Order: sequence, then C-alpha cells, then structure tokens
Amino acid sequence: MSTPLLVPATPENIARAAALLRVGRLVAFPTETVYGLGGDAGSERAVGAIFAAKGRPRFNPLIVHIPDLAEAERIARLDDRARALARRFWPGALTLVLPRREDSGISLLACAGLDTVAVRVPAHPVAQALLRAAGRPIAAPSANRSGRVSPTAAIHVAAEFGDDAAAGIALILDGGPTQIGLESTVLDLYGPQAVLLRPGGVPLEALEAALGPVIIAGADDAAPRSPGQLASHYAPSLPLRLSAAEARPGEALLAFGPETPAGFAEVLNLSRRGDLVEAAVNLFAMLRRLDRPDFAGIAVMPIPEDGLGRAINDRLRRAAAPRQH
Ligand code: TXA
Ligand code: MG
Repeated sequence: MSTPLLVPATPENIARAAALLRVGRLVAFPTETVYGLGGDAGSERAVGAIFAAKGRPRFNPLIVHIPDLAEAERIARLDDRARALARRFWPGALTLVLPRREDSGISLLACAGLDTVAVRVPAHPVAQALLRAAGRPIAAPSANRSGRVSPTAAIHVAAEFGDDAAAGIALILDGGPTQIGLESTVLDLYGPQAVLLRPGGVPLEALEAALGPVIIAGADDAAPRSPGQLASHYAPSLPLRLSAAEARPGEALLAFGPETPAGFAEVLNLSRRGDLVEAAVNLFAMLRRLDRPDFAGIAVMPIPEDGLGRAINDRLRRAAAPRQH
C-alpha cells in the first residue's frame, strides 16, 4: 500500500485494522487522549517501523496498550498501588511505568532496553475494540513526527504522514476528534516512591487523592526521568511566545479566558470561559491552525498551573523551547 488510507472506524474497518496489526503493519487509531500510531508490541519489526515512521530516537520507549488490567498483569508486575490506580483510572488517560515480566513477550526496542514497561488501558471504544480484535498488546506513540504537535483528529495524522509512502502506515481509523486532547499522564511506579514523569489527562490532584504525595520528575534531581521527555517537543513550525500580555507585529494569539489583548493578526481562544478541560481539548488543534507561514509567531496567554493546566503548560513550554528538530 503506497499511501495511508483514512477510513471511518466502522466494525469492518476495525477488523481490517486488527488483521493488519496481526501481520506486523502499522495502523493509526483514536484514543480518548490523542491518536496513536500502533504496531504489534511483540514484533521488533513492527516496533522498528514505528520508530522509523516517526523519526523517533530509539532511546525513547513506547507505551504498550492493552484492553484491561488482566492483560497488564501478563506483561508487567503490579503491586497494590498499581492495582488500586488501575481500578480507579482504567480505562483512561493514565500510563503506569512498571517492572516488565521476563516472559512479557514485549519487544525490547519498545521498552528501549529498560527493565520497565509503560502500560495503558485506553477508554476510547474504537481503541478498545481494536485491541480486543488484535488480541495482542499494541505499542502506540502519538501519531505525529517526533517532536511535532500531537494529533487530536484523524485528518492531523493524514496531514502528518499522508503523502509519505515511506512512513508505511497501512490504515488510519477515523473515530472523530479526541475527547481529552492531551496525552496520558505517565506515572513511574518502579521504585517505592511514585514519580510523575509526564503530566497529562489525569490531573496530579486526582492521582494524589488516590495515592498520596507524588514526586515530580525534574523538580527533584534524584527522581527518575522519562527518557523521552525532551525539552523541545509538541512544536509547531512558528516560534511560540508564552505568557504574552501584548501583541508584537504579525503575531497570532492563542488566548485563554474572557479578556483578550488587542492587536493580533488572528486570535483563537482555548476557552473563553477559562475552562481548562475545554482548553485541553482545543490546544493541539488550535496550535495547528495558527501555524501558518503568514504569521510571525504564536503568542500564548498565561494558563493557570492547576488541574489540566499543568499538562497544558508542560506542552506549551516544550513547544516554546529551543528547537532540536
Ligand atoms: O495518551 C498517550 O499516552 C498517547 C496515546 C496514543 O496512548 N501516547 C503517547 O505516546 O503519548 P508517546 O510515545 O508520544 O509518549 C510516551 C511517553 C514518552 O514520554 C516516553 O518516554 C514515556 O512515555 N515512556 C514510555 N515507556 C517508558 C518507560 N519504560 N519508562 C519511562 N518512560 C516511558
Ligand atoms: Mg508523543
């Protein structure tokens, strides 16, 4: 197949996608967070194809998607904390980094050679149906080129990979826009102390209510970090300017809240009513829409650092960081 196929996520197409996954092909599919680029997590060849398609550094491990907790138990070692969190937040936007079972059958490349594995049970009905039909764990990073803005709609995936036969994507399942809009929260439970590796769709406050205090990676030098949490990520082509209060010539504005400064070439509002859940849904799609060569840059208004605001600000800081790409 030379170009990826964008198809609606009907039962027939989900069955087709599952069959493609079982023979080692790559399929993009919706989850409630962002679209994933899936491949058989047990196949070094399929996992290698994911890294190649994304241009992803091989030291950055992938999340393994499974349909339920029972499947997680087959590939990882869960303790009481992990099971309690799984029961509370799965299916959902929480990824747990856990000790990997020796007999997990997961490709070492997917785990970047670590003795851990990141597992997640997505809630999206299309993802659930696909995982059950495929009948095997599916490695799936966000379906974007490494370092770029994550896809929250199937059309974003097609735009990212559509004209590149070399990317080797066999099918893109269109399940509509994603409901959360930000990636899952990544929590490391390898050691005795839980460490937040990536803020995401499950807010830190909710995790701490269930688990007690969580260490934040980066805040404490002794804490482990996610190998893939690069400073520059989620980046549009245009430069980003954070906490903007007034316009600079030619800039577009990504606004938040009811009051927006004047003088910008274009304004898109993440949430007029200042709702962080709505802002998360809009974030990546609006960054894409403002990423036009006729603007000089994208200015972003300040976003509060609580609830989903922590994950939104994390993505914006990385999008504004000096580029490595
Ligand atoms: O919402 C999501 O999590 C989406 C959907 C498709 O599920 N996936 C996603 O995958 O965001 P990706 O590859 O873009 O981000 C995975 C993150 C990276 O920061 C990676 O370094 C971290 O999870 N990660 C994966 N395995 C890990 C491991 N064994 N130890 C530490 N961090 C790990
Ligand atoms: Mg990603």
